[in-house]
Amino acid sequence: MALPWPFRALIWFCTVVSVSFAHKNVLFMLADDGGFEMGAYRNRIVQTPYLDALAKQSLIFNNAYASVSSCSPSRASILTGMPEHQNGMYGLHNGVHNFDALGRVRSISTILGEAGSRPTSETTMALPWPFRALIWFCTVVSVSFAHKNVLFMLADDGGFEMGAYRNRIVQTPYLDALAKQSLIFNNAYASVSSCSPSRASILTGMPEHQNGMYGLHNGVHNFDALGRVRSISTILGEAGVRTGLIGKKHVGPGEVFKFDYERTEEQFSVNQVGRNITNIKLFVREFLRDAKDNPFFLMVSFHDPHRCGHITPQYGSFCERWGSGEEGMGLIPDWHPIYYVWDELILPYYT
Ligand SMILES: *[C@@H]1O[C@H](CO)[C@@H](O)[C@H](O)[C@H]1NC(C)=O
Repeated sequence: MALPWPFRALIWFCTVVSVSFAHKNVLFMLADDGGFEMGAYRNRIVQTPYLDALAKQSLIFNNAYASVSSCSPSRASILTGMPEHQNGMYGLHNGVHNFDALGRVRSISTILGEAGSRPTSETTMALPWPFRALIWFCTVVSVSFAHKNVLFMLADDGGFEMGAYRNRIVQTPYLDALAKQSLIFNNAYASVSSCSPSRASILTGMPEHQNGMYGLHNGVHNFDALGRVRSISTILGEAGVRTGLIGKKHVGPGEVFKFDYERTEEQFSVNQVGRNITNIKLFVREFLRDAKDNPFFLMVSFHDPHRCGHITPQYGSFCERWGSGEEGMGLIPDWHPIYYVWDELILPYYT
C-alpha cells in the first residue's frame, strides 16, 4: 500500500527576540501561525527588511521549537518555560475549550514585573530566559516499500543519541543498520512536549486541539481523544493491514487507537513491555508469526529512556539495575549494557 502518512508537522510559530544587553530590554515578537518565511531565516524570496535589521542585533533561535502545536498551550509554554502538563494550560483558552494555567504558575512577565521592571517597556535586568526545549521523543521509522510494512519505533524521552543521528559516542549498531534501510526524519518535531498528547498527535496526524487528547491519559489527568477521531492504526487495520503495538500505549480511548495485537501497560507491567527487551523480542516474533504474509504496521514503544526512580527507586533512577542479574533484580537475557562516561556525551540542554 502507498503510505498515507498523516504526519502533519504544524510549524505554526515564528519568533524574533530582540535583546539589547546594553539597554537590558526584551522585545519579543510572536506571529500566530507564522513560519520561518523571513530573510533572517535565510528565505530569499520573502522580504522582511525591518525584521532582518532587528534580527542583526538580536538573538536568533535556530533550534527552538513550539512545545505544543496549539495556540494557548504554546503561548503558555513560552511564557512560563514549562510544558503544558506542568503549567496546566492544556488547551485553547477561548470559548468552549476554556483552559487556564494553574494559579501557582509564574510567567516570565510576572517574574520580570516583580523584579522591579516594566515587562512591556523598559525592562532592566539580566535575562533569566526560561526557555526549556523538551526534546523528548525520538523516532526511527523503517518502511519497506517492497513488502509494504511499517515498523515504527518510539522512545519515551529518548533523544538523538544514536549513530544514525551522527552521535559518535553512543553505540547503536542495530538501530543504525535499520536506519540504513529506513526513512530518517531530520526535521521532525514532537507537536507537544507531553507524553499522551504527543503520542496522539503522531497516531492521528492532528494537533491536540483537533484530536482532543490535551493531556496525559493516566491517573488524575484522565484525558482521552475525541470518539470521532481515527488513528493511523485504525485506518490501516480497516484496510487489511495487521496492526500491533508492543510497549507503552498511554493513549485512549481504545476505539480510537485500535490495534489487532496489543502488549502494553494495559495488560502487563510497563517494565515488562517497555524495558525487558527479551520479552519485547518474543512479542515481536509472535506478532510477525500471526501476521503471516499480511502487510503489517508494528509500533514498538520503548519505555527505557524514561526515569523510574520516582516509582521504583530500588531499581535505580532509570531502572538501570532492573534485569541486571544482581540479587533481587531479575535478568534480561538479551541485555548487555554498555556504560558510558556521561560527561563525554553531548546532550540537549535541559534544566
Ligand atoms: C524478561 O523477560 C524474559 C522472557 O519473558 C523473562 O525470562 C525474564 O525473567 C524477564 N526479566 C525480568 C527482569 O523480569
